[in-house]
Amino acid sequence: MNTEQFKLVRDSLIHVRPIADQVAESFYTHLFEVSPHLQKLFMGDMKTQGTMLMTSLELAVSGLDNMQSILPSVQALGERHVSYGVKAEYYPLATDAFLWALEHHFEDEFTPALRDAWAEAFDALVRAMIGDSGG
Ligand code: HEM
Repeated sequence: MNTEQFKLVRDSLIHVRPIADQVAESFYTHLFEVSPHLQKLFMGDMKTQGTMLMTSLELAVSGLDNMQSILPSVQALGERHVSYGVKAEYYPLATDAFLWALEHHFEDEFTPALRDAWAEAFDALVRAMIGDSGG
């Protein structure tokens, strides 16, 4: 992702933060509608899960301009996901569902440029989580 995209994503966090719970709820609802087989991986309370997801996403996304600083914690998060039974091919499903949830809440404000920027941010994060440095 380029600097412009990083700024777009980072600046959008101020709008995401107040509605993080709703975004997380829409995300899981949509994810399980599209990919019902993923639901059985989740054992705990989904509200708590949503809060953990949004907190870690915000931390990771705001550190994407300095990947080296977040890499160890993001890699460790990815390794824990292996033990949760998460396979690499599940990540694009989650990315699509998250973009859907953002679009659902922001409607017209979720411009194509902002969508692309979020897609790039997710891509970078997922590559770090699954240990693919992208060559
Ligand atoms: C950008 C991507 C993702 C982020 C930032 C993220 C973040 C988190 C966080 C913070 C936790 C709490 C536990 C921990 O810290 O280890 C967690 C747990 C978990 N995540 Fe993710 N996650 C991501 C993608 C996924 C995907 C694609 C799946 C698969 C569907 C998934 C499934 C799970 C499961 C099954 C748990 C454990 C739930 C439980 O114990 O009941 N995550 N995730």
